[in-house]
This record gives sequence, structure tokens and C-alpha cells, in this order.
Amino acid sequence: MKKQYSTILLFFSFFFLFNYSFSLDPIFESCVPKDCGDGINISYPFFIHDIQDPNCGYPGFELHCNNRSTILQLPESNFTVKHIDYNISRIRIQSSMFTSNRTDHCLSSIRNITSDPNRFMIDNNTTTKLYSISSCSSNVSRVLEKYRNRLCENEEYVMVKDDMNFKNLTDGCGRGGKIVAMPVELGGGEVVDGGNYMEVVEKGFVMRWHAADCGVCERSGGRCGFNRTVFQFRCLCPDRPHMVSCKPGKIFQFLLYCMH
Ligand SMILES: *[C@@H]1O[C@H](CO)[C@@H](O)[C@H](O)[C@H]1NC(C)=O
Ligand SMILES: *[C@@H]1O[C@H](CO)[C@@H](O)[C@H](O)[C@H]1NC(C)=O
Ligand SMILES: *[C@@H]1O[C@H](CO)[C@@H](O)[C@H](O)[C@H]1NC(C)=O
Ligand SMILES: *[C@@H]1O[C@H](CO)[C@@H](O)[C@H](O)[C@H]1NC(C)=O
Ligand SMILES: *[C@@H]1O[C@H](CO)[C@@H](O)[C@H](O)[C@H]1NC(C)=O
Ligand SMILES: *[C@@H]1O[C@H](CO)[C@@H](O)[C@H](O)[C@H]1NC(C)=O
Ligand SMILES: *[C@@H]1O[C@H](CO)[C@@H](O)[C@H](O)[C@H]1NC(C)=O
Ligand SMILES: *[C@@H]1O[C@H](CO)[C@@H](O)[C@H](O)[C@H]1NC(C)=O
Ligand SMILES: *[C@@H]1O[C@H](CO)[C@@H](O)[C@H](O)[C@H]1NC(C)=O
Ligand SMILES: *[C@@H]1O[C@H](CO)[C@@H](O)[C@H](O)[C@H]1NC(C)=O
Ligand SMILES: *[C@@H]1O[C@H](CO)[C@@H](O)[C@H](O)[C@H]1NC(C)=O
Repeated sequence: MKKQYSTILLFFSFFFLFNYSFSLDPIFESCVPKDCGDGINISYPFFIHDIQDPNCGYPGFELHCNNRSTILQLPESNFTVKHIDYNISRIRIQSSMFTSNRTDHCLSSIRNITSDPNRFMIDNNTTTKLYSISSCSSNVSRVLEKYRNRLCENEEYVMVKDDMNFKNLTDGCGRGGKIVAMPVELGGGEVVDGGNYMEVVEKGFVMRWHAADCGVCERSGGRCGFNRTVFQFRCLCPDRPHMVSCKPGKIFQFLLYCMH
């Protein structure tokens, strides 16, 4: 009787050994963290288009590699990823419009971001809005000349939301003026005008994301993923996808217990 148990145990040992050393689940292997060449490790809830399996992350969390940069494509604009903090679910991004060598830097071509709050939330505690005011129908007072975007050929003014001259400028711009906004992060007491606004644009801003927590799965040796067919979270494990954790379930633990 004892011998029989040993044989079973031996069989299971071989089974696991074989499983772990030779046949890791392909989806588990596909979801190993990768990067675009900029050292920013990409893993759940994000995944890199054409490099990682789409089931490694959530729909809407697709990233792209471009010239060794990591790019997040939102409907209104493309952003370069500067940093990702998986522990606190925060991503710092910067508008890609100004990273390539462009000769003009007119902000009027940007579009307001309407981020899907079920995925990303712009943290309004740390960000404010940078406004671009253009297509004015009347002459703006010379007093406000310092807000004029010096990197743009067209008449365009740049100003943050809480600037005390905001109303004066929009009134002076007249009817039909075009206003677009971009989230920016300000240090204390920073004054933004048409000469220095690129510094704050380049710093980028932080968004929070919403996705099921990966802690339990990760601590059990798994990688989180999302099965698009059944539209459900999965804990991807060396053997196969599990529901929440790679640790054997209660029944399996009971079987192991009986064998001892
Ligand atoms: C990315 O992952 C590699 C390997 O796990 C690690 O050495 C590196 O420090 C990580 N980089 C960052 C920015 O976390
Ligand atoms: C790629 O990135 C490098 C360094 O960031 C830059 O010098 C180069 O101009 C970029 N190339 C293109 C085609 O954008
Ligand atoms: C983002 O970049 C992709 C690839 O370069 C491009 O096809 C797309 O039009 C860009 N999106 C926006 C909103 O500019
Ligand atoms: C994230 O949290 C883990 C465990 O709580 C910790 O070991 C790790 O250093 C943290 N990483 C960062 C970048 O804070
Ligand atoms: C940007 O491009 C212009 C000409 O297209 C060139 O003269 C200039 O040196 C470039 N600047 C950078 C930083 O690459
Ligand atoms: C902003 O701060 C308030 C209070 O400090 C907090 O309750 C709220 O969750 C914060 N918002 C975000 C998006 O972090
Ligand atoms: C952030 O936005 C929320 C909801 O839009 C609002 O209630 C809150 O007052 C805002 N916080 C700050 C600091 O602007
Ligand atoms: C606006 O300025 C231009 C040139 O500076 C001038 O010719 C024009 O009369 C001004 N228009 C108004 C409405 O003041
Ligand atoms: C507001 O605009 C008027 C002209 O429309 C100008 O004379 C005045 O100086 C402006 N005020 C400030 C504080 O810039
Ligand atoms: C962009 O947002 C600002 C306020 O944040 C608003 O005044 C403006 O009308 C919006 N522009 C467009 C084109 O939606
Ligand atoms: C998603 O779940 C279905 C049904 O359980 C399964 O057939 C399929 O292989 C799974 N796909 C991935 C990529 O895990």
C-alpha cells in the first residue's frame, strides 16, 4: 500500500517537473514583462501591440512601440509613456506631438481629452489645464502679449486655467475664438506664459487607471491577464490560466493531504 502511494507521488512529481521545465503555458510565456527599449517594463493591465498577447492586458490598455518609445494612443491624441507605477496604478504620459522634431508648436491642433473614466482618470488634484486660445475675431490687448505662443506662426495664446488674465484674454479674443485644453502638472508658484509653457508640457501628467488588482495572482507566481473571449480576469500560471491564483484549490490540497 505504501509503495503504491510512493508511485503516485513519483508520478505527480514527474508530471510537475515535466510541466514546469518543458511545457510552460504559451499564454503565460507571452505575458512576460517586455519593453520598447526605453526600460519601462510593460505588464498587466497593459500589453504591447504585436509583442505581447492581447489577453495579457485589458481592452483599451494597448501600448505601441515607436522608435524605442512606449506610446499610448487615445482617441484624441498620442502620448509617450514616461513612467508606470504598478503599485499605485499610475501612469505618467506626455503628448507625443512635441517629441518628434516639429518646426511649429501650435497647441491649437490638440484636442480635448475625454478619457474613459472606466479606464483612466486624470488626477485633478495634481493637474490643471493649459489652455490654447486661437482664431480670435478681435485684437487682443498688447498687455497680454506675453501669453502669445512664440513657437507658433499663427496667433495663439497659452495660459493656465487659474491665470487671473484668463477672462480678459478670452473676452479680448472675441466671439468664435477656439479654446482647447491639455492637462499639465504645475509646481508651486509656477508662472506659465507663451515663452515657457513647453517646460510644463514636457513634464507630462499622471493618470490613474482602473483594473482588477493583480496582487493575489502575482504572489502565487502568476501573471495577470484578461480573457477576451469570456471577458474575464484570469491568473495566468505556468500550467494553465486559473481564476484568481496559481495556488492549488481546496480539493487539490485535500488530495495531497490524503496522500501523506
Ligand atoms: C524591468 O525589469 C527588469 C527585469 O525584471 C529589471 O531588471 C528592471 O529593473 C526593470 N525596470 C524597471 C524600470 O522597473
Ligand atoms: C528616435 O529617437 C532618437 C532619440 O530619442 C531621436 O534622436 C531620433 O531623431 C528619433 N527618430 C525618429 C525617426 O523619430
Ligand atoms: C497615433 O499614431 C498612430 C500611428 O502613428 C496614427 O495612426 C494615429 O493617427 C495617431 N493618432 C492621433 C490621434 O494622432
Ligand atoms: C511595489 O510593492 C512591492 C511589495 O509591496 C515592493 O516590493 C516594491 O518595491 C514596490 N515597487 C515600487 C516601484 O514601489
Ligand atoms: C530639427 O529639424 C531642423 C530641420 O528640419 C534642424 O535644423 C534642427 O537641427 C532639428 N533639431 C533637432 C533638435 O533635431
Ligand atoms: C483628490 O484628493 C481628494 C482628497 O485629498 C481624494 O479624496 C481624491 O480621491 C483625490 N482624487 C484623485 C483622482 O486621486
Ligand atoms: C476634482 O474633480 C471632482 C469631480 O469632477 C471635483 O468634485 C473636485 O472638487 C475636483 N478637485 C479639485 C482639487 O479640483
Ligand atoms: C487689429 O490690428 C490690426 C493691425 O495691428 C489693425 O489694422 C486693425 O485695425 C485692428 N482691428 C481692430 C478691430 O482693432
Ligand atoms: C484687460 O483688457 C483691457 C483691454 O480690453 C486692457 O486695457 C487691460 O489692461 C487688461 N487688463 C489686464 C490686467 O491685463
Ligand atoms: C475644450 O475644453 C474647454 C474647457 O476645458 C472648453 O472650454 C472648450 O470649449 C473645449 N473645446 C472643444 C473643442 O471641445
Ligand atoms: C479564454 O477562455 C476560453 C473559455 O474558457 C478558452 O477556450 C480560451 O482558450 C481562453 N483564451 C485564452 C487566451 O486564455
